[in-house]
Amino acid sequence: MEFGSMGMEYGLKQTEGYQDLKARLHRYLIECIEEDQVSPADWNAEVLSSYAHGRISRYVSTNRLAVNREDVEYLVREMVAELTGYGPLQALLADDQVNDILVNGAKHIFIERGGRLEHTNLRFIDDNHVMRVIQRMLAPLGRRLDETNPMVDARLPDGSRVNAIVAPLALDGPCLSIRKFRRDPLRAGDLLAYGTLDNAMLEFLCTAVGVRCNILVSGSTGSGKTTLLNVLSRYINESERLVTVEDAAELQLGHHHVVRLETRPPNVEGEGEVSARDLVRNVLRMRPDRIILGEIRGTEVLDVLQAMNTGHDGSMSTIHANSGRDALGRIGMLAGLAGFQGSEGTLKDMVASAIDLVVHVSRFSDGARRIVSIDELSCVRDGQYVLETLFAYDALEKRFTGSGSAPRSDKFQHLTPQSRRAEGSPPS
Ligand SMILES: Nc1ncnc2c1ncn2[C@@H]1O[C@H](COP(=O)(O)OP(=O)(O)OP(=O)(O)O)[C@@H](O)[C@H]1O
Ligand SMILES: [Mg+2]
Repeated sequence: MEFGSMGMEYGLKQTEGYQDLKARLHRYLIECIEEDQVSPADWNAEVLSSYAHGRISRYVSTNRLAVNREDVEYLVREMVAELTGYGPLQALLADDQVNDILVNGAKHIFIERGGRLEHTNLRFIDDNHVMRVIQRMLAPLGRRLDETNPMVDARLPDGSRVNAIVAPLALDGPCLSIRKFRRDPLRAGDLLAYGTLDNAMLEFLCTAVGVRCNILVSGSTGSGKTTLLNVLSRYINESERLVTVEDAAELQLGHHHVVRLETRPPNVEGEGEVSARDLVRNVLRMRPDRIILGEIRGTEVLDVLQAMNTGHDGSMSTIHANSGRDALGRIGMLAGLAGFQGSEGTLKDMVASAIDLVVHVSRFSDGARRIVSIDELSCVRDGQYVLETLFAYDALEKRFTGSGSAPRSDKFQHLTPQSRRAEGSPPS
């Protein structure tokens, strides 16, 4: 198997010949390790370095390569870093162009960059190597991953979100999914440039945030929900007190007055869990102007709906769903699971009076993320939610369309078209 461009792309020296040599050496070293049936990830750096030195020197002399001693030392250091540290993920973690890293066992490493998923030619030595890299990531966080705890969700010190799932749950080797933290988060201007929404939609959303609409951002996984929530939250007035609740803190709001809270999973003994519901309940005692819940995924749904209905207007959250209507269905289902006591009708009324807007985002096959609909939820009629689509994306025409109808919510009623524009901070 040959290393493709991904293998050669990463490294300190960027000349193609050098990178090519490095890639061939890496492969050779992995073959040596497999042939020698040794397990270098258990060795200390010195032993590993001397093993790598021996094999690399042999390769250089066998192939009569014009590589000097200094280069060999350099290559040894590179290879050792590759076999220790985060192994083949090291360079991917350092590359700002890479957004997601997905490892399916030792031989398959995918990345997402520029909105596209790519299969790299990088690989680990074997499943144990993957395990050790994952353990190395989790150990400083005090998290354990083994047969008794085969599933871990964590956040790295740099803010990247990590999920690992291993045997006996993962059948084809350890799986790792990393959503990298963007040091430079996407702004409204980026979303406009990427065609996620148009100016009219941004202006409308900006106004909606300003007049304290309760907004639900829905979409499937990786569709850009959190990113949009982050962008919208930036239009909240600086003077307001925001409290965020997340499983793994991702939001970067840039406000002075933000309290960030993060849930805590149970420890190894199964104790000490602090759920999103616990946190949302606590938040209500913290005098927040607005609550921003990273994602609605469980029993916290009831507390959030109540908060939205009782003086915490302007709260926002995201939810995994296939459409705006589906998002409301999921809210109902989660509320049912959370032990909602009333009738279905009462629940729907509660949802309808809590949520003002549902913004649905989607990831298209070309990698672009777009807002496919902005729906206003006005009421429940004949047992059905009444959703008015204010903006939508027409996939055939490849453009955004506005219905032209004004939102019905009282929140917009005092606004003239001019003051609507002025209500939220101007888009940047
Ligand atoms: N509008 C956009 N245009 C281009 N890239 C985007 C856009 N929104 C998000 N992204 C990128 O897509 C990836 C996923 O974004 P994000 O975390 O916001 O998705 P999500 O829907 O919240 O995912 P999850 O379901 O895993 O929580 C990130 O790498 C992000 O930088
Ligand atoms: Mg998210």
